[in-house]
Amino acid sequence: MTKSASFYNQLKQHLNGFAPEIALILGSGLGELADNIKNPIIVPYSSIKDFPQSSVVGHKGQFVCGVINGKKVICMQGRVHLYEGHKAQEICQIIKALKLLGVKKLIVTNAAGSLNPKLKAGSIMMITDHINMSFTNPLIGPNDDSFGPRFSDMSNSYDQELQALALNLAKEEKIKIHQGVYLMVSGPNFETKAEVKAFGILGGDAVGMSTVPEVISAAYCGIKTLGFSVITNMGTGLQKSPQSHDETLAMASKATNSLAILINKIIERI
Ligand code: HPA
Repeated sequence: MTKSASFYNQLKQHLNGFAPEIALILGSGLGELADNIKNPIIVPYSSIKDFPQSSVVGHKGQFVCGVINGKKVICMQGRVHLYEGHKAQEICQIIKALKLLGVKKLIVTNAAGSLNPKLKAGSIMMITDHINMSFTNPLIGPNDDSFGPRFSDMSNSYDQELQALALNLAKEEKIKIHQGVYLMVSGPNFETKAEVKAFGILGGDAVGMSTVPEVISAAYCGIKTLGFSVITNMGTGLQKSPQSHDETLAMASKATNSLAILINKIIERI
């Protein structure tokens, strides 16, 4: 059996007939979004055989499933990253398992550094597109045509309709959101000044160490995706002090409240 089928079978057993349609993958400091769920079904990653474990401070490492605003959701409270030693293909197996569970839409959030002097720490950026500078790809390896094609289209990997809806709802809720391109590096080190400069010239607005493998995998298997970055710091060289993970967590919790309100509304409407 493939790993994605095994993850699916195990999750399905835990979920006991509950069939989520929307998945949320929640990054650093943003895991609290899942705490809105009443009477959740909680499935720790450690309870799923062979499931990649999340080892980052601020990432709980569990699925939280239940109903938000009338919609059945499955949240990944904490994600797995390449810099923890996980392969991009393992992330694809998780997304395939979500697809098998019946997930149609995916909302991803992350913490990111700004590459754009106009995009300040504490702001929310809706991801309009990405640049994959992780030097790997979740779709490398034999292709299973039942999920998607060998050569996958990425022209709508951040779904246009979902983006339009998010913009409308942000306006309604008076929540300011920026739009921009997310550039992924593998990490775990923060960027050099030269890298931040280069990535800005390449067209990135924000830089982070996650999300792209999930989004490529979701686009590949036909799951419509919406993504948000919480800008926790200016990229190296665009701010005076050195980068730290504590700062990332503190700034993320500030913008999280607004983003949680927005995502709740989006869930209601999709
Ligand atoms: N670089 C990469 N990843 C990040 C950053 C950053 O500056 N901030 C939060 N995640």
